[in-house]
Amino acid sequence: MFPLSRPRRLRRTPAMRDLVRETTLDARDLVYPLFVRHGKGLKNEIKSMPGNYHFSPDRLIEEVGEAMEEGIRAVLLFGLPERKDPEGSEAWADDAAVQTAVRDLKREFSDLIVITDVCLCEYTSHGHCGVVQDGEVLNDPTLDLLARAAVSHAQAGADIVAPSDMMDGRVAAIRRGLDEAELDQVSILSYAAKYASAYFGPFRDAADSAPQFGDRRAYQMDPANAEEALVEVGLDLDEGADMVMVKPALPYLDIVRMVKDSFGVPLAAYNVSGEFSMLVAAAERGWIDRERAVLETLTSIRRAGADIILTYHAREAARLLGK
Ligand code: PBG
Ligand code: ZN
Repeated sequence: MFPLSRPRRLRRTPAMRDLVRETTLDARDLVYPLFVRHGKGLKNEIKSMPGNYHFSPDRLIEEVGEAMEEGIRAVLLFGLPERKDPEGSEAWADDAAVQTAVRDLKREFSDLIVITDVCLCEYTSHGHCGVVQDGEVLNDPTLDLLARAAVSHAQAGADIVAPSDMMDGRVAAIRRGLDEAELDQVSILSYAAKYASAYFGPFRDAADSAPQFGDRRAYQMDPANAEEALVEVGLDLDEGADMVMVKPALPYLDIVRMVKDSFGVPLAAYNVSGEFSMLVAAAERGWIDRERAVLETLTSIRRAGADIILTYHAREAARLLGK
């Protein structure tokens, strides 16, 4: 009790604050998401996500090499197809952009962790994450297609596959597909609690994956629900997920904490495109201090309980942490 108790004693100097700090941020816990497309020499900026690009595989290697020098050890790849069709068949094409980039990256950087996003929405003509019939996204017929995509990524050399579709039973289907293909060492990071969020807006621009009709509310979670996230995480772990994710991060830090307290497994949080672009836009206007806001944001996601953070700020954060 005051005046005996004076919390400010521990805040007096940088060294004192460092000594008592509870949460640490480390480039080794960051995953850098990247967009890859066919071609050569391409590095085209994504308008809605300043400082992020569509790379052809050759330029991607350059970008990842620089990121690794700054301390980044893991990347997440999204692919843009050459052709879209109702099934999204380029998702499991061996010569698609993601598969090509995975092979190139693993050849170039043996200790890089390559994660691939497994979904169909970038590849389907209707932009939904599964097979569509009479305006509905069908669950069970989608599972085999997701498993095919995951196996194809793993055969190209992916270390981790990350299904982001939110179909029921997809982790089990993917695990079975991987094991049957003798890929039992490839792990699954499931987007377990993924909410139907407005914060994916800039990404859908970047990945050209906006649904052509309706929205994703019949498969992604209702932002109003918390307990349901525990059901989703429990199911994915039972089905064989090695790690789970909460997405988006900032509006769902309560979910991050609940999942961390309820399950003793590696937990990732995705600091999504809308969270990124909001911060960058405010900083561009001079309304917030970009560097401080980035570090505060990522520290807060770690403090809420995330072990791993997927973030478009990864390179910037690694540079700041290295200073
Ligand atoms: C594809 C997918 C999305 C994101 C990751 N994987 C978009 C969506 O579900 O519409 C969002 C990533 C971001 O906003 O940064 N299913
Ligand atoms: Zn999708």
